[in-house]
Amino acid sequence: MTEHVVVTDDGAVRIIRLNRPEKKNALTLEMYADMVRALRAADQSDAIHCVMFAGAPGAFCAGNDITDFLKAAAGGVDPHALEFLNALARSQKPMVAAVGGVAIGIGTTMLLHCDHVVAGAGATFSTPFLKLALIPEAASTLLAPMRMGYARAFSLLVMGRALSAADAREAGLVNTVVDDAEVDNVALKAAREIAALPPKTVAVTRGLMRSHVDDAIKRIEVESMHFKDLLKSDEARAAFQAFLARKK
Ligand code: COA
Repeated sequence: MTEHVVVTDDGAVRIIRLNRPEKKNALTLEMYADMVRALRAADQSDAIHCVMFAGAPGAFCAGNDITDFLKAAAGGVDPHALEFLNALARSQKPMVAAVGGVAIGIGTTMLLHCDHVVAGAGATFSTPFLKLALIPEAASTLLAPMRMGYARAFSLLVMGRALSAADAREAGLVNTVVDDAEVDNVALKAAREIAALPPKTVAVTRGLMRSHVDDAIKRIEVESMHFKDLLKSDEARAAFQAFLARKK
């Protein structure tokens, strides 16, 4: 584990906390690998009944680290992000997310795999993939239209328009909006509530409700083929360089 992902257990709840606040919790390859390990270990543990993702104050996750995108554009694509998406889609344990501050790119699309999302009133959700000359991932091209309807999904995924916490709740991405300072507590309470239910009945019900999982896994594969090609385009490289060279 790196210090950028902190994994702790609260009884039967496994908490996976992103902890790279100085970079707004942008995800590195090592962070993906850490999360994959934590999710797989949770899947295999009878003692863990629920997983909770949490971030840092002001930043749930600013998406993939753009420096890593630039490296991937120059050389090979590391499989860690893809492994994370697969682990997320296949997770056997219910997943709760505590979202405070920015949720960008994968920070938003990963929420489509979560079972219960708590957001702070100041949270924002955006997927600026097309502005980076990329396409959305994490099966969001399948799951977002299913969840929020085509029109809202197009505005989010294609036009890159951000959702406020209230918009995200209305769109069905978020269950509850609370004071920013209360996000972790309220999410943990929900995670404990889920963890207290008989795990087998949760697993069976959840499995039946997630009958789209096989389609989501196939979609992750197809999106990722396009994504890998687009990462190498001149437009994408220029967009990554522009972000990294921007004046604050
Ligand atoms: N990849 C790499 N570094 C990132 C990052 C990312 N996705 N998001 C933020 N950072 C870094 C910044 O480069 C900066 O690093 P520095 O202090 O060494 O220069 C640090 O995190 C703080 O970000 P900053 O932009 O100064 O904070 P802000 O409050 O003005 O803006 C964001 C925060 C998240 C809105 C802004 O950083 C942003 O738009 N990030 C890119 C998000 C993105 O496009 N992600 C990819 C989605 S597909």
